[in-house]
Amino acid sequence: MDKRKYDGGEAPAGDYAGLTADSDYPASGLMGSNLIYFPVIYSTMDAARDQAIAKASEGTVILAETQTGGKGRLSRTWISPSGNVFLSVLLYPEKAALPYLTMLAAVALARAIEKQLGLPTGLKWPNDVLIGGKKVAGILLETNAGGRETLFAVMGIGINVNIAPGEYEAIATTAVSLTELAGAAVSRRNLVKALLREINSLYGDLGDGADLFTEWRQRLATLGSRVTITAGKEIVEGVAEEVNPDGSLMLRLDDHTLRRIVAGDLKLRHK
Ligand code: BTN
Repeated sequence: MDKRKYDGGEAPAGDYAGLTADSDYPASGLMGSNLIYFPVIYSTMDAARDQAIAKASEGTVILAETQTGGKGRLSRTWISPSGNVFLSVLLYPEKAALPYLTMLAAVALARAIEKQLGLPTGLKWPNDVLIGGKKVAGILLETNAGGRETLFAVMGIGINVNIAPGEYEAIATTAVSLTELAGAAVSRRNLVKALLREINSLYGDLGDGADLFTEWRQRLATLGSRVTITAGKEIVEGVAEEVNPDGSLMLRLDDHTLRRIVAGDLKLRHK
């Protein structure tokens, strides 16, 4: 019996086969020490939430080959064909850490992709991971900070590894995949290990979030650019001037006032 549990799941298969038996797994720590793999799942977010309700250990990872109901930010669908990476990490953070968890995932992704593939990786506010201006990975954070219930957070990460974005109308011009960029096969097994290692180290060193914020801010490719932000039904345009440690964006409007934006969708304006 493998030392890892597969509660309700199966042993990792395809190019993930043997992932949990590798000598450098579980990424020297908590993240992924309990890994549950599904060939097909509705969404790893829901499975991780079920694990939280069942009081699974912190760092439990749900990894899926494909999702039939992949969720993106702002109630969008996340296209989830076999060959990409879909995972969710279950965390029991202090309340003070909540504002930093999407930043943490974004920085971990950028570091892992750079270390593993040598591809220069930037971030677009609030949490898209970009290479060459196109989206290579997305992050979805769901939290349960409710009253008497245990606080938990689910950090969902999707990485375009083997997708051909041109085959999907919704992302044809905005997304890119690691295989396209690397021009060669990309090991999802090594990528996932590198990612969990980075998440583990950043989560362990989170402290007051100051160092993480500094790196996230430095990696933001959009600061100083003219942008439009869609926030609910409102669309505002201005210059993305600064970000705050809570992750919000300061937008300089054309009437020179500064507006703080907490959530939304940012698009670069081409001059
Ligand atoms: C975004 O819109 O940019 C966030 C995308 C997050 C997708 C990941 S894939 C793994 C996890 N399961 C989901 O259903 N969504 C997240």
